[in-house]
Amino acid sequence: MRFFAFNKLLIRYMITWLTLIIKRLGNVLTTVLTSQEKARIDAQIQAHQHMPGALLPVLHAIQNDLGYVPEEAYPQIAHALALSVAEVHGVVTFYHHFRRHPVGKHVLQICRAESCQAMGAEQLESHIKSTLGIDYHQTTADGAITLEPVYCLGNCACSPAVLMDEELYGRVDSQKIAEIIHEARAAS
Ligand code: FES
Repeated sequence: MRFFAFNKLLIRYMITWLTLIIKRLGNVLTTVLTSQEKARIDAQIQAHQHMPGALLPVLHAIQNDLGYVPEEAYPQIAHALALSVAEVHGVVTFYHHFRRHPVGKHVLQICRAESCQAMGAEQLESHIKSTLGIDYHQTTADGAITLEPVYCLGNCACSPAVLMDEELYGRVDSQKIAEIIHEARAAS
């Protein structure tokens, strides 16, 4: 009896470890950069590394160029700015603005701050999530749209507000968001 209980425990441990290893492997595989991406990161580092407090400008430039700041670039950034990889990692993870994973062709941000909440942002958010079939920080299956929360877009007078890429929209309802999504997909 004890033998079977021990075996059961062993199998459970093995499954847990295997799951962790597969997840880890998945993360490694998804962060492999192409030589072109590496060159673009290098170009952004070179263009901004001499600015005062260069880390933030470098991170912004990389995100603007690639859509996110790949973890694989941390050592490259750290070396160029004479920082530790932990420091770069700390700043990227501290600011919600920085994305650590690739995004779709368009990024749709929904304001979740007070004024928008008071004007129905929560219902709008559920509607958008079910329309796109994704949750926050996910991308639609066609790679067109990534959904992100944001906390005040400075458009409180026209709540609820959303930002599609660089375009700000106010008083958004289900009809308006359908148009916004349609336009973004058509432009892809
Ligand atoms: S609270 Fe949504 S734009 Fe300010």
